[in-house]
Amino acid sequence: MKDKLEAIKRSAAERVKETDSLTALEELRLSLLGKKGELTQILRGMGNLSPEERPAMGRLVNDTRAAVEEMLNNSKKHISDKEQNMRLAHEKLDVTMPGRTKPVGHLHPLSIVINELSELFIGMGYEVAEGPDVETDYYNFEALNIPANHPAKDEQDTFYVEGGLVLRTQTSSVQIRTMEKKKPPIKIIAPGTVFRSDQVDPTHSPVFHQLEGLVVDKGVTMAGLKGSLIMFVKKLFGNETKARFRPHHFPFTEPSAEMDISCFACGGKGCRVCKDSGWIEILGCGMVHPRVLEMGGIDPTIYSGFAFGMGLNRIAMQRYAITDMRLLFEGDTRFLQQF
Ligand code: DAH
Repeated sequence: MKDKLEAIKRSAAERVKETDSLTALEELRLSLLGKKGELTQILRGMGNLSPEERPAMGRLVNDTRAAVEEMLNNSKKHISDKEQNMRLAHEKLDVTMPGRTKPVGHLHPLSIVINELSELFIGMGYEVAEGPDVETDYYNFEALNIPANHPAKDEQDTFYVEGGLVLRTQTSSVQIRTMEKKKPPIKIIAPGTVFRSDQVDPTHSPVFHQLEGLVVDKGVTMAGLKGSLIMFVKKLFGNETKARFRPHHFPFTEPSAEMDISCFACGGKGCRVCKDSGWIEILGCGMVHPRVLEMGGIDPTIYSGFAFGMGLNRIAMQRYAITDMRLLFEGDTRFLQQF
């Protein structure tokens, strides 16, 4: 029995040395010390020994077991250290290495202008309203007091869609949609895309952008309109900006006006930007026509309102000194990356 124990110990030492993974080591442990393991078998044989032999043999078995366990434990520690070192070497990170940058998109110059103008008007108490790009003839023309034979409805100007719909030619359509939904006081802006069948050239595009404004309440006046718009252009173009209003005609406002601002390039002296006039036309505006209020379900004997509409592309072009409107729509990233 003693020899057997010696043999087990020796072969265990050799097999432990040959083992180089934790799973193999666990298998080895089971084959030695497990329920059916070699040492366990010997322990079972103790029953056949005489009472005198048992204590000494018992001690020997225990010593052997302890020795084998120690070998196994040492090897386990050794192997797991080695495995960890390998893993660490494999996963080594060079934190000083420069990162990989992904190209990030950014806002289109038109979006920048829309956001900036919206922020300005929101600061003046306006809410942002929206309407569909594909409109009915009613919202785009009829409810805005534009009669059936009006030149704006001409096929030359308007894209007609099947089913009597049009691509909206102006954001003014949002005026009626808003009045139908909301009771006064109403104070909204509506930035959006509009469409007209214009020939493409440096200052014209069949797709462009407008920002509409509508204020309806008791006691809204032309003086209020002028005050609000002057405040707006001073905020947008600087405090020294001057404004003037010229009489004009729009079917949906009465009286109507166009607003010019003093040229921000030359301060009003006259230059190429303002074609030597010192002024730049910036928007159309007026007091909402009583018929339009009625169409929106609002009683014009109680309420009055003002409205305005401006082209955003021109503002973006002026702001960034862009000389060709087509650049705003062509999606050339070399151009767009500048903003
Ligand atoms: N809808 C007009 C256009 O497209 C712009 C406009 C003028 C809007 C006067 C208004 C306004 O609300 O009162 O030319």
